[in-house]
Amino acid sequence: MHDNEQIPPRTTTAPPFAEVLERALARRSLLVGAGAAALIAALGRRGGAQDDTDGFPGTSAGGLSFRELRAPLGRDHAVAEGYRAEVLVAWGDAVTGAARRFDPLAQTAAAQEQQFGFGNDFLAFFPLPAGSANSAHGLLFVNHEYTERGLMFPPEQRARDGAELSEIELAAHGCTVLEIRAVDGVWRTVPDSPYNRRLPSNRTLFELRGPAAGHPRLATSADKDGRTALGTLNNCAGGRTPWGTALSGEENVHKYFDGEPAGTEAANHRRMGMGSPQFRFHRHHARFRLADEPNEPNRFGWVVEIDPYDPASTPRKRTALGRFCHEGAETVLNQDGHLVVYMGDDSRGEYIYRFVSAAVVDTANRAANEHLLDEGRLDVARFHDDGTLEWLPLVHGSGPLTEAAGFASQADVLIETRRAADLVGATPMDRPEDLEASPTTGRVYVALTNNSRRGVEGGPAVDAANPRAKNRLGHVLELVPPEKGGQPDHGGQRYRWNVFLLGGDPVRAEHGARYGGAISDEGWLTCPDNLAFDPKGRLWVATDGHEDTSGRADGLWATDAEGPDRARTRRFYAAPTGAELCGPCFTPDGTTLFVAVQHPGEGSSFESPTTRWPDFDPKLPPRPAVVAIRRDDGGPIGG
Ligand code: FEO
Ligand code: CA
Ligand code: CA
Ligand code: CA
Repeated sequence: MHDNEQIPPRTTTAPPFAEVLERALARRSLLVGAGAAALIAALGRRGGAQDDTDGFPGTSAGGLSFRELRAPLGRDHAVAEGYRAEVLVAWGDAVTGAARRFDPLAQTAAAQEQQFGFGNDFLAFFPLPAGSANSAHGLLFVNHEYTERGLMFPPEQRARDGAELSEIELAAHGCTVLEIRAVDGVWRTVPDSPYNRRLPSNRTLFELRGPAAGHPRLATSADKDGRTALGTLNNCAGGRTPWGTALSGEENVHKYFDGEPAGTEAANHRRMGMGSPQFRFHRHHARFRLADEPNEPNRFGWVVEIDPYDPASTPRKRTALGRFCHEGAETVLNQDGHLVVYMGDDSRGEYIYRFVSAAVVDTANRAANEHLLDEGRLDVARFHDDGTLEWLPLVHGSGPLTEAAGFASQADVLIETRRAADLVGATPMDRPEDLEASPTTGRVYVALTNNSRRGVEGGPAVDAANPRAKNRLGHVLELVPPEKGGQPDHGGQRYRWNVFLLGGDPVRAEHGARYGGAISDEGWLTCPDNLAFDPKGRLWVATDGHEDTSGRADGLWATDAEGPDRARTRRFYAAPTGAELCGPCFTPDGTTLFVAVQHPGEGSSFESPTTRWPDFDPKLPPRPAVVAIRRDDGGPIGG
């Protein structure tokens, strides 16, 4: 989703921007070591962008060799020369065998429950058979983050605004599992596969698990035990566990609940930004009205876990991972066998979190990990200007997280994770979106998409990790875990961190952009959102807001993460107008890249859309869709 209106009124005093940034860059030279001089020279080059028509010059040290995409913003998508991008599945396409043919003029909730949902975001690929590295056959897990009434329904239907519209929208939320297969390099869904599954949010029951499950603050009139929630909402970026399940973050859950926060949950609901819904479900369902069901919001804002290999499995909400506007749930199997999950809270001035499992992962027995995510330690990040990062535990009874502060148990700490993080002194960030760990170095990258409130009155002050006031262009940070026995230790308490890149156009001094070296006029990006690593350890960055900030298409850029071409982004794929790009996801062999095109035509309407991608059929509105990208010769994506 595009813009997260939240109100975290925390202000601190901090040194001015220039001083902070110079300190961060100077520190970087110490950290980078022998290669630092060249890097700093490149970082300091304001006129570094190149004009040459060939785009990025040649092959990077990390082997990226595609010729950079040059394409204007348009109604269609575009990919670098030598690649083809084909739509695999779009909103309304059949998922189950019971699905009827999509008719946007006569849509029903019953039809939508069997069809591919709206607003595709996170993607994860699970090879078939389970446990294999098959890159031509598998299951695709997809989140459907949210719906857009103006693009989904014709005006006469919108004008009626009945309960049915809300039901269709709820059914278009949730998740999808689809069996997919590549034949001669062309991906297709497998119709009638027993794996195919919709988890529509108007019907699917989720089991609440972990320390907050069963707590009275999670009980409602429909679920007096506080253990079963109806639906999942606003599922944004996610992750994939080593045992082959999908994790999905419930993000902007405050956009669903109506009413003035009041009573014992008032402070909690205010801290989560409840009360001004973007959706209209509250008109038809009491559970979306704070006055009727004050505990219903406490059942959303969690990470959910879904087993794509078992279509009969019960999806679970894992409360041990905290409650906030979850974006991303990047897992790392740590060297000591524990599972670490990195997570962002995507609102202005919110925090970066980490979960460390209490038990170790059993790599030989999948079933033994079924409830591994129910017990562990949740930490929140404090960034220091000297380039270190501390993980602060959010553990009931430790530090300020006591009864005196209103936390009677760990359940309270988890239900009000943000307030707990405020009290321990976490660092407010510029909207943390996706996090991703490099498969080759173990360093962790964080997309900070933007924060227009940074450094303005009422917003958080500029600091070294969020170094630009009114940051509309976004940046990427690199977190460096300590080493233990020569391996990164993702359970370590103190990390180092670096600014990886500052988004924007390096030739425009007012942007204050920084890259690792010269880039072409197509190579600069803004508003980084979703991240992915390919199997060779190159970082791929998808954007959400580049069109708004640059007039160019949102899309996908690739860069080396290490060596002389580190942080030198080059453009690979352009989304159609209005869309943000989500879900970059590689097959295990790196020869297919799946991307999710979310909200094509945003800002326009069903009857008069700015694009009718991907069908370009005058009878169809634009449809969010998943795209499979392959190289013409079948080789690894990127080179
Ligand atoms: Fe749903 Fe933070 O993007
Ligand atoms: Ca976003
Ligand atoms: Ca996102
Ligand atoms: Ca990712």
